[in-house]
Amino acid sequence: MNIALILLAGKGKRLGLDRPKQFKEIGGKPLFLYSLETFLKHPSIDRIILVTDNEHIDYVKEIVKEKYNQNIETILGGETRQLSVYSALKYLYENKVKDDDNILIHDSARPLVSEKVISRCLDGLDDYLAVVPSIKIDDTVINIEEDIVISTIDRETLLLNQTPQCFKFHIIFKAHNKAIENQMYDKTDDVTLVLKINEKIHYVLGDKLNFKITNSDDLALFECIIKSTH
Ligand code: CTP
Ligand code: MG
Repeated sequence: MNIALILLAGKGKRLGLDRPKQFKEIGGKPLFLYSLETFLKHPSIDRIILVTDNEHIDYVKEIVKEKYNQNIETILGGETRQLSVYSALKYLYENKVKDDDNILIHDSARPLVSEKVISRCLDGLDDYLAVVPSIKIDDTVINIEEDIVISTIDRETLLLNQTPQCFKFHIIFKAHNKAIENQMYDKTDDVTLVLKINEKIHYVLGDKLNFKITNSDDLALFECIIKSTH
């Protein structure tokens, strides 16, 4: 079974809007519905779990019930991204998950994830226990001290991670349990935790459009794309 966890429990502090960025209305709907709709449309996704916070859970439940026919589960996340994912994994553990189910963990702050990227990740899970989509860096990468350029860095082996980061349930649950055991609570992505249990992670090609909305420039870019394509 392929299970998507979509994360919408963040506060969006860096963007600093009047509400968390995933709830900002763009092109007539809240931002989190863009990625949700892509997962809903994907023929291989069997189950979707939305992870949100106390303040927004009723609103999220209401909007998805009103808009979509499919069953979508909505649960509470935690104080950090890592704890939001962990909360969803514990929920799954108690709610009919199998060890070899595929778990796709996606940031709702990446509204333009494509069906293609999701498919590439799922194909990767046929052969590997852990798969992440990433993109190459096109610009030259430099090293600085204060405001002085010290050197350039060979970018050939550097990639930028995206989501959905995908794992067999038993791998990601083990990685998260281990992190908690080691009093680690705020790692910003799941790859870091899986590497700590020495699992091999396979990389598949992501997509430039699958960028994360973090700052106001990212939001402006997303708004431009939506205006020009809808
Ligand atoms: N996230 C979450 N639970 C948290 C923190 C983050 O589910 N406690 C989610 C966010 O909603 C987002 C994704 O993780 O979709 C990536 O996090 P990020 O871009 O850092 O979003 P925020 O934490 O909301 O933003 P900021 O760090 O600027 O406050
Ligand atoms: Mg954050």
